[in-house]
Amino acid sequence: MAAADPCVLVILGASGDLAKRKLIPAMAEMAHQRLLHPDTVILGVSRTPKSDQEWRAELAPWVARQSPELPPDAWTAFAPRIFYLAGDAASADPYPRLQARLAELAAAHRTRGNVLIYMSVAPELYEPIVAQIDAAGLVTEGRRWCSIDPGQRSWQRIIVEKPFGFDDASAASLNRALGRVFDEDAIYRIDHYLGKEVVQSLLAFRFGNAIFEPVWNHQYIDHVQITAAETVGVGQRMAFYDATGAIRDMIQSHLMQILAFVAMEPPNSYAAEHIRQEKIKVVDAIRVPRPEELHLHGALGQYAAGPEEGAYHQLPGAAADTRTETFAALKLVMDNWRWAGTPFYLRTGKRLAAKRTEIVVQFRPPAANLFRSLLPAPLPGNRMIIDVAPRERFSLRFEAKVPGGTFRLAPVEMEMDYREQFKSTPVEAYGPLIVDAMRGDQTLYKHRLEVESAWRAVMPFLGPESQPLRASIHANYAPGSWGPASAVELLARDGRAWHDD
Ligand code: BG6
Repeated sequence: MAAADPCVLVILGASGDLAKRKLIPAMAEMAHQRLLHPDTVILGVSRTPKSDQEWRAELAPWVARQSPELPPDAWTAFAPRIFYLAGDAASADPYPRLQARLAELAAAHRTRGNVLIYMSVAPELYEPIVAQIDAAGLVTEGRRWCSIDPGQRSWQRIIVEKPFGFDDASAASLNRALGRVFDEDAIYRIDHYLGKEVVQSLLAFRFGNAIFEPVWNHQYIDHVQITAAETVGVGQRMAFYDATGAIRDMIQSHLMQILAFVAMEPPNSYAAEHIRQEKIKVVDAIRVPRPEELHLHGALGQYAAGPEEGAYHQLPGAAADTRTETFAALKLVMDNWRWAGTPFYLRTGKRLAAKRTEIVVQFRPPAANLFRSLLPAPLPGNRMIIDVAPRERFSLRFEAKVPGGTFRLAPVEMEMDYREQFKSTPVEAYGPLIVDAMRGDQTLYKHRLEVESAWRAVMPFLGPESQPLRASIHANYAPGSWGPASAVELLARDGRAWHDD
């Protein structure tokens, strides 16, 4: 594995929540684990004026809270590598100062002119900022030789947070805007679900073993369920959420990533281009439902009032008569050889019964039931559950004979718990992903075409044709439940049920 290059990590939107909660604690952890190059430094950029010292002091309690396992001296050692510059990155104003500061940091810390920009700002600012980066001539990749280390070119890369666009057209426009300034291999579209251990281990599970792949198709798998359930409500994020909704916030991005890892064809090698090619293909195979069949493919909901909060549509900040979904369940089918006839059901929501991200792979029952005269009910078929969070676990249910004279079958579970097996503690997903960008590894980042295909697949559920799904959305599910009745019907219509226990 290539080591991470030294660089200046420029966080645009440094005063925001993501920087405090995730990015800086993750970088402190990475530095402590010696996964950051020792010369790498961070430069935060935001509008509020403050000094380097003030920003470090502001960050200290966040790092202590978010990374409690980090020893205090690790922060003391890391803090001097953090700097701050005040300015509005969407205007031309701060760029001359930014250039000067970058040159200063490059000279003082030997960062070789490498710059990794992290766009942690409101999504509507992405395009204006990219235009300013271009106008300021910040991207010199391939055009300028590194002054410190002759023979090495300096690089400039950009990490773009989700939501990547608001719909298919805006995502394509953002891709074009980025492409005018950066090469595709310098653009890192981040999805923190790809930093989750179990999502990555799906590749090891599927392609590091010979026994699963032959049955991993429509012949043996009846259907797949992917659930990302949360118990929290929308909280302080109403302004963002009411304009966004569950499909844009979770399905188009995170759940599609899981789907791609579960459903992709075997890549030619564990190389970014091969893995990304297969993900593009599988997301592109998702059939876009026609308006008249939409009700057979989706169920939307909004949470009702509960002990902790009022009904979503009545919360302060929600638009009058808001129809934004806080719950979505979609049935997606793929027009490809492997998955023809095997639907993937994706489900996500706020204020549900549990905080849980899981993949349920339901196998078909045995082709013939040898025990039909002995057993009252048909055999259910094997089931594999892959827990992504909060547990990290693979479990396989199969039928076994119950010991004793009478012939009885009972389902039993075989399981592998990551934390027990490897004595591991979960790592904040952002850290390893950002380090990958410093190493120039795009394996766990999304390609332009994949993002655009994922948008295409969900557009009917967002456009005017989705109005019938939103007609009776207000308070159609109770907090603490598994969503609206229409989500249960979505599967019941196909003779199936959600895994809710
Ligand atoms: C974010 C969404 O991308 O993912 C949030 O914007 C959501 O609404 C979060 O709560 C869930 O992430 P995780 O890692 O807690 O499953």
